[in-house]
Amino acid sequence: MRGIILAGGTATRLFPLTATTSKQLLPIYDRQMIFYPLNVLVKAGIKNILIIISPEHSGHFLNLLGSIFDKNNIRLEFKVQKTPRGLADAFIVGEDFIGDDNVTMILGDNIFEDDFSEDIKNFKTGGKVFAVKVLDPERLGVVLFDKNMKAIKIVEKPKKWVSDYAIPGLYIYDNQVVKAAKQAKPSSRGEIEITDLNNWYLKKNKLKIGIIKGKWFDAGTVDSLLEAGQYVKEKKLYENFDPTINNAIAKFNEELKNLAKKVL
Ligand code: TTP
Repeated sequence: MRGIILAGGTATRLFPLTATTSKQLLPIYDRQMIFYPLNVLVKAGIKNILIIISPEHSGHFLNLLGSIFDKNNIRLEFKVQKTPRGLADAFIVGEDFIGDDNVTMILGDNIFEDDFSEDIKNFKTGGKVFAVKVLDPERLGVVLFDKNMKAIKIVEKPKKWVSDYAIPGLYIYDNQVVKAAKQAKPSSRGEIEITDLNNWYLKKNKLKIGIIKGKWFDAGTVDSLLEAGQYVKEKKLYENFDPTINNAIAKFNEELKNLAKKVL
């Protein structure tokens, strides 16, 4: 299993904060946002992780993550997505990185309280995504279930109400996803949609949908960014991080302090 964090995009909803750095490097309480999706992958035992970034602030990601991990422990790779072509583009930009393996993709601005380690470790074939009840389904990809909670269809940003169950930004797929992404046609908003990939698996009867426990934030607006930070602080979610990440952050902080002493 390989991991991809999709951390490019334009982040217009966070202007002007994102004029000077990437959304995924803004703080969620005491650490950069990117550590949250990274933690989901590392906790599940994934060692090879590709971070897809936009050209504008690529150096900032390297400053933070370029040397933070012991190379034998977690191997991070970076790749620039030249233009934000849509979430499904992760599997085209990441094609060489994925090779013949399965892949878990997570959005760089998603904060989950739930732990997906077992779903990722036990994954075999097809696709697995998750559903969570939301108040604003028209903003998201939503899934319509029948009365036995069997998924019938997935609709991207429905204009008319379909369901309150949205699919947040964590997707586990087998290697076929690369083929599916390459076949996907841009939608009316000009993006290749992950909803099309999910429907591709659903039609083949190969899509499993789990229900999320706990809170989920798309930290892409000023309000949700603040709300996520407050929730993390209140629930001390940073204590649930994989020790590899907490140790790397602590070591990085120490190095920064030493550097600051020298400068002074
Ligand atoms: P979005 O929040 O849908 O898009 P955005 O980050 O550009 O923000 P805004 O709507 O405010 O302009 O993206 C979700 C995540 O996926 C986020 O981490 C950015 C990332 N992303 C890419 O890396 N490439 C893409 O082509 C798209 C569409 C998103």
